[in-house]
Amino acid sequence: MNTILVTGGAGFIGSHVVRLFVEKYPNYHIYNLDALTYAGNLENLKDIEHNTNYTFIKGDITDEDFINALFEEHKFDSVIHLAAESHVDRSIQDPLAFVKTNVIGTMNLLNAAKKYWNGNFTNKRFYHVSTDEVYGTLGQTGLFTETTAYNPNSPYSASKASSDHFVRAYGETYKLPYVITNCSNNYGQNQFPEKLIPLFINNIINNKPLPVYGDGNYTRDWLYVKDHARAIDLVYHKGINGETYNIGGFNEWKNIDLVRLLCQQMDVELGRSKGTSEQLITYVKDRPGHDLRYAIDASKIKNELGWKPSVTFEQGLEKTIKWYLSNEDWLNNVTSGQYQSYYKKQYN
Ligand code: NAD
Ligand code: DAU
Repeated sequence: MNTILVTGGAGFIGSHVVRLFVEKYPNYHIYNLDALTYAGNLENLKDIEHNTNYTFIKGDITDEDFINALFEEHKFDSVIHLAAESHVDRSIQDPLAFVKTNVIGTMNLLNAAKKYWNGNFTNKRFYHVSTDEVYGTLGQTGLFTETTAYNPNSPYSASKASSDHFVRAYGETYKLPYVITNCSNNYGQNQFPEKLIPLFINNIINNKPLPVYGDGNYTRDWLYVKDHARAIDLVYHKGINGETYNIGGFNEWKNIDLVRLLCQQMDVELGRSKGTSEQLITYVKDRPGHDLRYAIDASKIKNELGWKPSVTFEQGLEKTIKWYLSNEDWLNNVTSGQYQSYYKKQYN
């Protein structure tokens, strides 16, 4: 029996990771710890909530006593740590919230793991899920590798960089067995509609403006979320302690080109005439400190662990659009209430 604590498992990526592990490894027990912030949603895991090898625990990683008690009670063999404040625009509105969850929360987990594993690290692992944004921005050329210097530009990426440094430092100082992965932009079903793709899908459905920041010439490297979950599975089982692995989609898109493709696919799915959704594109004030370009060199995980994305961007986007269109209740639930005030503050 392998007892795994997954943090942030009710969120976007976490829910795909939890489902993959629960279904693929019936002899593991998966504890999903999540505070159910605005981004956490148990609807994401409805299909597996009664599985016998799955337990949901509502709780906050910033609560040190609670985290210590949890480790004492369940004696976890390993941690897959995804819980975080994850949206750059929110980090610009409220940076301290990001320090609390992303830095202090990670510290609490590291300290609890160190304390309860108590130097007996056989078959123990702390897996920290991080982002390519820690590397800062690229110019028109080049790729982020595992040895690119950290140079975070937003409060979000600074908090993630800080947590990465602490994980590594615990490995060096206390020999805590860890792995870190730094992944590019994810997209897919269950992503909260504050991020580019689901926000624009929701606005297209509702015939609302599509707010493209600045000139739209910013570039991101997009990966289908289930391919990220597959990569996490692989690194969890085959990654080498103390190593970092970059994960990316080999799939760079300028925002404006991506938005045009999305509009075209949405027109087809909604039965609207060609060009209808593109008319909603509206250029708005830029994001402060907006990183020009992210692009991952994922050759290490590809060559050493044999991972590669399983779907093309067009295929993944089509699956994503179809999911949002057939899950309107999910979309309506998460865009009522609090979301409306966030939207007004961010876009008006
Ligand atoms: P998300 O915002 O969708 O989900 C975060 C989850 O963490 C939510 O379920 C939320 O309730 C939970 N959470 C937040 N604060 C918590 C706290 N204090 N205690 C317990 N739970 C808490 O995020 P996501 O997009 O799924 O990202 C998951 C992880 O992957 C994050 O660490 C993020 O930095 C990283 N990441 C995300 C992307 C991406 O494109 N989304 C890319 C690379 C890395
Ligand atoms: O690179 C990995 C990161 O990708 C993750 O660590 C983050 O958690 C995740 O949020 C994402 O960060 P980005 O800032 O790149 O994602 P976002 O979807 O917010 O924005 C993607 C691009 O689209 C970015 O250049 C900003 C732009 N954008 C975004 C929104 C929400 C717009 O032009 N308009 C918008 O309304």
